[in-house]
Amino acid sequence: MNVYDSARMADVMAPLGYVSADSPAEADMVILNTCHIREKASEKVFSELGRLRMLKEERAREGRTLSVGVAGCVAQAEGEEIQRRMPHVDVVVGPQAYHRLPSLLEEAARGQAGAIDVDFSASAKFAGAGEGAARGAAAFLTIQEGCDKFCTFCVVPYTRGAEFSRPVTDILDEARRMAAHGTREITLLGQNVNAYRHGATGLGELIRRVAEIDGITRIRYTTSHPRDVDDDLVAAHRDVPQLMPFLHLPVQSGSDRILAAMNRRHTADDYRRAIGRLRNARPDLALSSDFIVGFPGETEADFAATLALAQAVGYAQAYSFKYSPRPGTPAAEMAETVAEEVKSERLERLQAVLNDMQLSFNQATIGRTVEVLFDRPGARPGQSIGRSPYMQSVHATGAARGTLASVRIDAAYNNSVSGEVVSSDPTVPFGASDGGERRITMEGIG
Ligand code: 5AD
Ligand code: SF4
Repeated sequence: MNVYDSARMADVMAPLGYVSADSPAEADMVILNTCHIREKASEKVFSELGRLRMLKEERAREGRTLSVGVAGCVAQAEGEEIQRRMPHVDVVVGPQAYHRLPSLLEEAARGQAGAIDVDFSASAKFAGAGEGAARGAAAFLTIQEGCDKFCTFCVVPYTRGAEFSRPVTDILDEARRMAAHGTREITLLGQNVNAYRHGATGLGELIRRVAEIDGITRIRYTTSHPRDVDDDLVAAHRDVPQLMPFLHLPVQSGSDRILAAMNRRHTADDYRRAIGRLRNARPDLALSSDFIVGFPGETEADFAATLALAQAVGYAQAYSFKYSPRPGTPAAEMAETVAEEVKSERLERLQAVLNDMQLSFNQATIGRTVEVLFDRPGARPGQSIGRSPYMQSVHATGAARGTLASVRIDAAYNNSVSGEVVSSDPTVPFGASDGGERRITMEGIG
């Protein structure tokens, strides 16, 4: 979401003559786009701002300026604290107010130190979205923001506000503009993306509409909630070949007691059933999840249930975190906190299991040919990095960036696979449609 938002900020600043710089040393303005989800992330903001203060003072001695902005969820949650502790910050802008960056900068330049906007009016934010420069072969498109779920550990409902779904026509317009700029893969984004609903249109129907756009050959969506996996979305996994066979569906815990305390509003069995329906529709579906260990009250038996669920599902990848109490959330007030050493030990055990699964998943693709969308340069000359349908990072030489190529996988690692390009598709010039007809089935995966 922050990657998408940073691109939107670049778009709104472009008419004022701003272009992207590679480092703060080269920049006239630095915006920190911040995350508030765990304590570590928000602590980093203050240390980074300390460094920028020194850079700003150095510039002042040379008679030059540097504007400093803080955007994102730390700005939203701690805007006033930032202004108090860090008076060198010129602009503080919450996630719903990026369209106001130019006027906030103007206010700051007029000497209104610390212009701030942490309003929650979401609709204006997306005006003109997608009009900026090309976003790359694989790019994000926000369709929904905010969250009404109120999991007891999570700050998102407070920092991003209530659920808001963008109108279908706006999304399709943005997707068409992205396709015209050469984007081939779109990841539909939302904090709670499968809660998307505009009028009668839910996420399944939206995916079908995006799949009709010329040039868009791959569609993904993230992040979903297990409660909102409806039949139409499951059917889209069966019927829409452009919808990639990979889904990030966070479960957080495998213990019903902890799921209830987290206010997830589903049981471990509900989750397993949702996965069963999805795999029925798309047998090669690869899965990913988020896990939290050490939530208040989590016993060894609760944790064992999490390990068991992870083993039962079989993930292609996963993210796992130690529970971090966030100010203002209900869980932060809960007693029965889990000791830091216990959290660390559980995290290590869970990650060992998840890493093994990820390696086995990658190893199972050795000898197979998968279609890869190459969108990044690799470390070695001539090497490119792309994604398989299953979200694996694929390294290969001789594939042009922005192209789809068939790659035979010959080596597997924990976080990536590598292979040889067997054919890139010359009939599909970059940015044009391939009709979305190709589909790979990989038996035995997951
Ligand atoms: N502590 C630890 N992890 C958290 N997440 C969200 N809030 C917290 C927290 N307070 C994790 C969840 C979520 C992911 C984006 O971050 O697993 O799915
Ligand atoms: Fe946070 Fe996701 Fe729960 Fe919403 S559904 S409160 S974003 S963890």
